[in-house]
Amino acid sequence: MSITQLRPDIRYVGVNDRTTNLFESLWTLPHAVSYNSYLVVGEKIALIDTVEEHFTSRLLSNIRHEIGDRNIDYIIVNHMEPDHSSSIAALSRIYPDLKVVGNMQTIRMLEGYYGITENTVTVKEGDTIDLGNGKVLSFYLTPMVHWPETMVTWCEDDKTLFAGDAFGSFGALDGGISDKHLKFADYENEMRRYYAAIVGKYGPQVQKALAKVNTLAPEMICSTHGPVWENSVAEVIDIYDRMSRYEAENGVVIAYGSMYGNTEQMAEEIARGLAEEGVENILVYNLATTDPSVVLRDVFRYNSLIVGSPTYNAELFPPVAHFLNALAMRGIKQRHFAAFGSFTWANSATKALKEFAEKMKWEPVVPVQEMKQGYSEEKCAAPAREIAHAIAEKLKA
Ligand code: FEO
Repeated sequence: MSITQLRPDIRYVGVNDRTTNLFESLWTLPHAVSYNSYLVVGEKIALIDTVEEHFTSRLLSNIRHEIGDRNIDYIIVNHMEPDHSSSIAALSRIYPDLKVVGNMQTIRMLEGYYGITENTVTVKEGDTIDLGNGKVLSFYLTPMVHWPETMVTWCEDDKTLFAGDAFGSFGALDGGISDKHLKFADYENEMRRYYAAIVGKYGPQVQKALAKVNTLAPEMICSTHGPVWENSVAEVIDIYDRMSRYEAENGVVIAYGSMYGNTEQMAEEIARGLAEEGVENILVYNLATTDPSVVLRDVFRYNSLIVGSPTYNAELFPPVAHFLNALAMRGIKQRHFAAFGSFTWANSATKALKEFAEKMKWEPVVPVQEMKQGYSEEKCAAPAREIAHAIAEKLKA
């Protein structure tokens, strides 16, 4: 059986994108990304989600490899974001009899994006489409995981969930399609980063979706990005559950900006202090040079956060402001929090860091520490060690 044959009647026809540098023009792709698309083959054939339009010809070639000249009867649209929907118009021309299936919101977006108003089928929660040969697809709405129209498709016969973005991961599929041939450990970090960057704002909605997923008890999860999960179903559901509840494990993220290295030296001193206090999992990130999704991933994962910023134009240093905004947007729950800031003549950054803590309803473990002008051991070591000690005490508690 070919590796693309996930089950006798479920075929992988997606593609790898090793060219795009920034996903959503925002997030780096050091390991590339896949756009996953699947065929369910009964007497009729359904294609579940498509791929980004630059790859339509590759998708078509993959479809023909699997089903030859047979027609596609349905495109099931679990998610309308263009990385999954932008091949629909071309496929509708190639297969003029196919019907495009989505919920009420999907159908409106099909018109808005692609002008498609005919040959559509509107489905509601729990509706089914019978493809014949025992392949019955049913549909469950999972709004805001990751757009309002998002739904999942269930194939009871194969206990398979077509999950849209849920449980997806950055990282191209290097040879294998499922985790029978790909190692979960090689994708775990990219799956966490994908969640933090793309879905992380919608924790409560993910919890509602998980309740439906758990009722279905899938044996195979086919997402729109990253590996198909067969061996790791329990692990990926557990990670989604913990991340969407903002549950964190012991560890410290130090995220800072620094123009001339003074704030950076303070960050280094805090990190050293934490290590000497016996803290494990210390991650130090320069926000000016690190993709924010990497830092967000680890803020989701670990329970302590220390932020440092110099004053810049009487505000926070811009990469720090951008990062804090991304945190607030995702509604990150309480972390053990500390902050420090440097300034030359106006302490605007430390004021902004205090305001950020108040906005998030986070109680800093020690008052926000200020450093005026250059770093020196005499004036900075003590406040840095105070932060490190206070965080270490929290982790021991
Ligand atoms: Fe991969 Fe929300 O699209």
